[in-house]
Amino acid sequence: MNRYPQQVRIVEVGPRDGLQNEPGEIDVATKIEFINRLSQTGLQAIEVTSFVSPGRVPQLADAEQVWRGIQRQEGVEYPVLVPNMKGLERALAVGVQQIAVFGAVSETFSQRNIHCSISESLQHYYQLITQAKAEGITVRAYISCVLGCPYEGAMDSAKVAELARHFIDAGCYEVSLGDTIGCGTPLQARKMLERVAQQVPMQQLAVHFHDTRGQALANILSCLESGVTVIDASVSGLGGCPFAKGASGNVATEDLVYMLHGMEIETGIDLAKLVAAGNLISSALDRSNDSGVSRAGEC
Ligand code: HMG
Ligand code: MG
Repeated sequence: MNRYPQQVRIVEVGPRDGLQNEPGEIDVATKIEFINRLSQTGLQAIEVTSFVSPGRVPQLADAEQVWRGIQRQEGVEYPVLVPNMKGLERALAVGVQQIAVFGAVSETFSQRNIHCSISESLQHYYQLITQAKAEGITVRAYISCVLGCPYEGAMDSAKVAELARHFIDAGCYEVSLGDTIGCGTPLQARKMLERVAQQVPMQQLAVHFHDTRGQALANILSCLESGVTVIDASVSGLGGCPFAKGASGNVATEDLVYMLHGMEIETGIDLAKLVAAGNLISSALDRSNDSGVSRAGEC
């Protein structure tokens, strides 16, 4: 019996999670071309950018221009990250249809990333999600630090499950479980996922592994065995969170697709086109780093 799913949905987070943490400065036209290329690969969802404070994430200060410039393809979703009502207003003004909110299971990381406690974030996200849904916007949620926090260490999976339930009850269609600093290992990842799945159906869960210690593909394999079918990834393994000390890039989408196809799991993605999109953005980052332009994120 095949214990793996037949199909997996990949959420490409390179243009957002990837570029938010790269020191090189990428111009708007290159970002647009990158996203347009990704749109031709068969990906079903591409997280385009963030409508967050431009002072805190200058790499994505061009969110409106990027959003307006891309050619959106039928059948592809283009979510953006939104932290508050101001972000929602900006997203609505340019016609965004899917957003993602982001909380954390660690109090310290919550304070550092979004400047409020976990319980405050749940209150303001409840209002945000309600407002977004009233505008016809669908909402995804992230929970960060599910397998460990750079400031507090190990995290309690029961607390992750409780938070995930909160986001689903508030109206999110899916919760992505973030190993923000890539500290988890396969058995830990699977146990955490299975604990969360006691409170939220597996079909509404996604996994989001950063690859700091080379564990991401092994963690994904382990979670596939537990039934997860939605996986976040970033082309060329770009990215990280500027507010999580030591966080590095996400699992590379190319490696993930290669593994899944080799296991006869369908993704609908053309690997050669994906590699070409990855080469485009990697070359642009190399040029930008060579030119000495850099804006390091704070930690
Ligand atoms: P705040 O409470 O307003 O306070 O925002 P602040 O001091 O952080 O920001 C102040 C300035 O930002 C003010 O402007 C605000 O008006 C403005 P000023 O008066 O100084 O001119 N501002 C905004 N401007 C535009 N759009 C907005 C917006 N909001 C405030 N939406 C807030 C708190 C959380 C919004 C802010 O600190 C922020 O945007 N932080 C960035 C957080 C972020 O993007 N983190 C990285 C993404 S999360 C992640 O990567 C993890 C994930 O990948 C999963 C995983 O790996 O675990 C999702
Ligand atoms: Mg991330």
